[in-house]
This record gives sequence, C-alpha cells and structure tokens, in this order.
Amino acid sequence: MQRIELATVLLLGLASFAVCYDYATVLQNSLLFYEAQRSGKLPSDQKVTWRKDSALNDKGDNGEDLTGGYYDAGDFVKFGFQMAFTATVLSWGLLDHEAGYSNAGALEDGRKALKWATDYFIKAHTSEFEFYGQVGDGIADHNYWGRPEDMTMDRPAFKITESAPGSDLAAETAAALAAASLVFKTVDSSYSATLLQHAIQLFNFANTYRGKFSDSIVNVRCCYNSSNYNDELVWGAAWLYRATEDNQYLNVIEQEYPTVQYWIGFDWDQKTSGADVLLAQLTGDSSYSTKTKNYCDNIINNQQRTPKGLIFISEWGSLRESANAMFICLKAAELGISTDSYRTEAKTQIDYMLGDSGRSYIVGYGTNPPTHPHHRSSSCPDAPATCDWTQYSTTDPNPHVLFGALVGGPGANDDYEDVRSDYQHNEVACDYNAAFQGILAMFVELGYSS
Ligand SMILES: *[C@@H]1O[C@H](CO)[C@@H](O)[C@H](O)[C@H]1NC(C)=O
Repeated sequence: MQRIELATVLLLGLASFAVCYDYATVLQNSLLFYEAQRSGKLPSDQKVTWRKDSALNDKGDNGEDLTGGYYDAGDFVKFGFQMAFTATVLSWGLLDHEAGYSNAGALEDGRKALKWATDYFIKAHTSEFEFYGQVGDGIADHNYWGRPEDMTMDRPAFKITESAPGSDLAAETAAALAAASLVFKTVDSSYSATLLQHAIQLFNFANTYRGKFSDSIVNVRCCYNSSNYNDELVWGAAWLYRATEDNQYLNVIEQEYPTVQYWIGFDWDQKTSGADVLLAQLTGDSSYSTKTKNYCDNIINNQQRTPKGLIFISEWGSLRESANAMFICLKAAELGISTDSYRTEAKTQIDYMLGDSGRSYIVGYGTNPPTHPHHRSSSCPDAPATCDWTQYSTTDPNPHVLFGALVGGPGANDDYEDVRSDYQHNEVACDYNAAFQGILAMFVELGYSS
C-alpha cells in the first residue's frame, strides 16, 4: 500500500515537471511560416501582414507569368527542386493525416499552403517538355540583404527542356502534383484532374529525357547540387502509381530500383527511404517493409546522437534531418512496423526541438526560442525604414517574429548560438518545415497531449 502511494506521488511529481507541448499550435504556426515565404501577389486572407506583394515581374523566356510560389529559405530564390520536395511531403501529411490537420483547426490553411506551390508549378510547366525550375540568380540574390518587396536585381528564370533535361526535378515535381491531386480529389475535382494531368506529363518528361537538372540549370550549383535522379524516378513513379493505380509505374520502379543508392537521410536530394515506406504502404510487398524496418532500426540504433539525444545526420540543418527520418519511421509505425518504439523515438526527437533540449528551436514558440534566424524578410523593420546589410549585422533580434519556422539546429554536441550569420545552424527553409509539420499533424491525430 505504501509503495503504491509512493509510486503515485512520484508519478504526479513527474507529471508536474514534464513539459508538455501544444502540437496543434505549433502546426498552425508552421503554416504561418509558409505564408511568410510566399512570393507574388498575396491574397486578402494573408495572416502574415508584414509581408506584401513581391517579385511581380518573375517571367519565363517568352514572358510567361512565373509569379507565385515560395522563397526557398532565408533568401528569395525560387528553387523548384526544393519547393517540389516540400510540396510532396506536405501533400503526404495532408493526405494521410487529414484528421490531424482538422483536429488542429489547420486543414484549410494546410491546403492553401500546398496550393500556393502547386499553382506555381502549373504556371512553370509551360509546355509538355518545358518546365521552369528556378527563378532568381543564386549569387545575385544572396548578395542582397533586404526585403523581397524592395528587390530590383534581375531575376532570370531557368528551365529544363528535351535537350537540357532534369529527371530529378521533373520527377519530384510530378510526385508533388500527383500527391496534391489526391489531396484535392474530394475538395476540387477539376483542380485535382489538372494537377494529375501535369503530373503524368512531367513524369513522362523525367523518364524519357534523362539527366540531372543541376547539369541543365547550372545556376543552382551556387547553392544546391542534385546527386542523382534515379531515386526521384522511383519516388515519382510511386506517387504516380498511388494517384493512377496504373501498373506502368510499377514497371518503372522495378527497372530503376537496382540503380538507386542508399542514403541515411530523407531530404530534397535523397528520396529512397520515402519511396520504400510509401511502396510498403501501397503494395504491401514485404521487401519494402523490410527495407523500411532496416532503415529505421539503423537510424534509431546506430546513427550518431548528440549528448542530449538528437539523432545527428548532418551539421547543416540537423533538426530537419532528424524530423524527416522520424516522418518515415512514423509512416512505418502506421504499417505495424515497431509501432510503439518508433513513435516513442519520434516524440523524443520532436520534443527535443520544442524544448526538451533546454530551449526551443521553433521561432516564436516555447522557452527561449530563436530570435535571430538567418532570414532576410523578418530581419527587416517595416518599410520605409532602410533594410540592408546593417540589419544582417545587428545583434538586435529580428523585428518580425517568423512564427513556426524550424531553424537549422545544433551541432553534434548540442552546440548552438542564436546568431543571424550562422546559416548552417540558424537558417530556416521551406523544406525544413515540411515533414516536421506532417509529424505535428500525426501527433495531434494520435492524441498526444498538449
Ligand atoms: C556543386 O558542384 C559544383 C561542381 O560541379 C561545385 O563547383 C559547387 O561548389 C557545388 N555546390 C555546392 C553548393 O556544393
């Protein structure tokens, strides 16, 4: 009896000390971050009102309208490959975890965040074998510190074509559009059909005219290099198969799979683990679930960790790498693969980011959040005050709170400084928040306490 009472007292004591996180609020805030990244003409229901219309002259070679889409990170280049990966992962969360979004009061805004990207991809797909994969010059853009609303530099647009192909870019965009067509299927069937039509064409483009997009759009090399395109062909085909149930895509997967390389991460460059768990989900084929289990067991049991327990994959953007891997393992958990342990690990990783490490890594949320993210627009005071490199150098916090943004994160020893100049650890990016946001929807759906 005494022992039971003691245990109860201890449990109550622990409960009162355990920090709880409001996953629904963080999910809503993450959607505010996507609003802050919007390029083009902003809608009247825009909630992040310190952002205004910008880059209204983004055009293709023949004057095609390329306004819209998202600024990539702390900069103002529209990098299509990263944007497409973001849209695919956002779609995955919205599609499989609509209930989580809905319970968090975030479903409508979630769909709007996705549509902001897919509307732009439709514009950028100017003909069957022509797709604009970047707007803005990487070097010129990165040499500018200021507001997007004030930019005056040239913003060249770069495309892939039959003679200058980009299978990775086209297949990832096809994945995004196929996944989004499923998200919008019951919401707006005609938009959904349009998305699917573009997805089918872009996948065919990717598969027929083979090449790495960074060999065609060389401007991207300032900032991102794609390592290969075979993983995107498999991943894109898997999403096309999900959207069409057409077996020709399974044939592509069978053909391409042997050429795919294995990676630790799941990110804008590396899709293999994502393809595995998606194919396990779609086909029930045990070879895919075995690969997924091996992937997650390896990440959880063998991957380097920081002293405080963060799974550490990359110095650059360490938190999104952990979140992205946990997204894969949470999808595995849904398939009955090590369900309890994967969910426990995912919660440990996300809670590290929200505060268990001793601080929050989410701008505008929790204890001691970052206030100096490497992010141009939020570092600027409201116009007409000047904004330039002085703003970059000041030790003052960013005048605007970039709610919901997940910063790069700590180094291998949980080391982190909230300084604007440290783009490896303190930049934000559209692709950083995508899987993170999907996990928040899963946690809300699972009823994890707030
Ligand atoms: C991309 O690769 C090129 C060589 O092909 C190299 O010069 C460049 O620095 C690389 N960019 C990045 C961001 O790693």
